[in-house]
Amino acid sequence: MSDDTTSQDFTSSSGFEKAAMQDTDMQAIHAPQLKRERVEPHERQSPIPISLLTMISLFAFWGGYYFSNYSQDFRWDAYDPDAKGGAGEVVVEEKPLAEVGARIFRGQCVACHQTTGLGVAGAFPPLVESEWVLGNEERLARILINGLNGPIEVLGATYNGNMPAFGPNGLNLKPKQIAAVLTYIRQEWGNSAPEVSVEALEGYHAKYGSRPEPWTAEELLADFPME
Ligand code: HEC
Repeated sequence: MSDDTTSQDFTSSSGFEKAAMQDTDMQAIHAPQLKRERVEPHERQSPIPISLLTMISLFAFWGGYYFSNYSQDFRWDAYDPDAKGGAGEVVVEEKPLAEVGARIFRGQCVACHQTTGLGVAGAFPPLVESEWVLGNEERLARILINGLNGPIEVLGATYNGNMPAFGPNGLNLKPKQIAAVLTYIRQEWGNSAPEVSVEALEGYHAKYGSRPEPWTAEELLADFPME
């Protein structure tokens, strides 16, 4: 066939139809395969399911509700037992000293003096009925603020150990906390002595807080003889 014939064949209406038909046939045949090979484009990250979105927003809503009810405006003193209420302020109830003291006693003193306040024979002296606990307030405050070592006689038995300091040079309890724990040990286990005020302890803190070394029983008795 010459070039002439070919071009004539193509331009003739029958030739065109034939070529067009062949094209569609070819597309029809290839379509399934093309579909298989070229995966439909889709987004990489599938959208978050509505159920999950709902759950997240419910949690966020609940969180907001919880904060607005219980955050106390995120005030720093919202959980401070010492916080005092004022105009528009959070009112935190003032707890009785002995109650505050009970908590401090459990945290700071039970390891040695025991929950019963009876101490451990030969090692830690008792606080129950102790003349040091029930007697002079300033003498007792000194023991707590600065600590105690060397021999000491309690209820007729002699001890010789180390009582840690709880003042500024020791475990650093605030005057109020020491007043509280002293009030507690003076009024617990059948003990009955007047409460120790926060004001009094603030005075003793100012007086003895800077002293670095613990007292000896001898020193204490020299200043405040046993009643
Ligand atoms: C690490 C043990 C230890 C801890 C903790 C401790 N004490 Fe003592 N305490 C002693 C020892 C030991 C003595 C006797 C010291 C001596 O022999 O000179 C003593 C003595 C005392 C005394 C005078 C003697 C008496 O029995 O009456 C008091 C009062 C006292 N402690 C109260 C407390 C309080 C209140 C706390 C808690 C805030 C406390 N102690 C925490 C070991 C401890």
